[in-house]
Amino acid sequence: MTLRIRGMTKAYGGLRVVDDVSFEVSSTAVTGIIGPNGAGKSTLFSLVTGFLDGDAGSVSFADKDLSRASPMARARAGMVRTFQVPREFTHLTVRENLLTAAPNQSGEGLLDVFLRPGRIRQEEERIRAEADAMIAFLKLDRVADSPAGGLSGGQKKLVELGRALMTGARLILLDEPFAGVNPVLIETISDRVRELNARGIGFLIIEHDLAALTKLASVLHVMDRGRLIASGAPSVVLSDPQVRDAYLGGAAA
Ligand SMILES: Nc1ncnc2c1ncn2[C@@H]1O[C@H](COP(=O)(O)OP(=O)(O)O)[C@@H](O)[C@H]1O
Ligand SMILES: [Mg+2]
Repeated sequence: MTLRIRGMTKAYGGLRVVDDVSFEVSSTAVTGIIGPNGAGKSTLFSLVTGFLDGDAGSVSFADKDLSRASPMARARAGMVRTFQVPREFTHLTVRENLLTAAPNQSGEGLLDVFLRPGRIRQEEERIRAEADAMIAFLKLDRVADSPAGGLSGGQKKLVELGRALMTGARLILLDEPFAGVNPVLIETISDRVRELNARGIGFLIIEHDLAALTKLASVLHVMDRGRLIASGAPSVVLSDPQVRDAYLGGAAA
């Protein structure tokens, strides 16, 4: 399955924060997006996942045009994002956070409650079992029944990943999964991403921690001031003078 981004553009007050960006992402790979702060990376994620309307451009996933689809419809098509600042339900437990992410529970219709109670119970049990498996897979056993709001930064990122997985996503967009995460949990998250990718789930990852990102990603795209300035294998992209300039310029600013 392939995500195709074509001519994506978004301006605020005349300033193009995402400027005619086009590239493709295969769900067989882990792909990285890098670039200095303010380059437009998070905005691009919002455009691709439908949280923001673009001024121009198109998005398709698995040959389905999603350019005008809602975030929910894009998630149903298999493409799900996480946010730079985790948006877990702070008062719900980790398990409840995972359960509420599961889509299309047939028990939601009042009529089903009366007409098909057995089926609803079955589906609930299936979703509970999935959440339990997810908790074990993400090594969240010890905090499964704790409120998500009290978790460490890294554990919250794992919950976000779990919520994305519970939707049945085939391509997951992670916005800075390693920001504010301790080195041990960076390893845990990386390890789970690698394992999931081996099972056929694709990842598109915005990340500033280049050492951690290049251990995962086989392709990097570089954004600077809204534009895509380089794409390719990490070793090639990171030795590109234009990319080095963009980073040094950002650091000096
Ligand atoms: N709602 C908004 N209104 C005006 N400017 C915005 C808005 N959202 C983002 N921007 C600007 O767009 C640029 C890109 O932001 P962002 O996509 O968050 O960058 P990145 O994730 O690469 O750090 C920044 O200059 C930011 O200030
Ligand atoms: Mg950002």
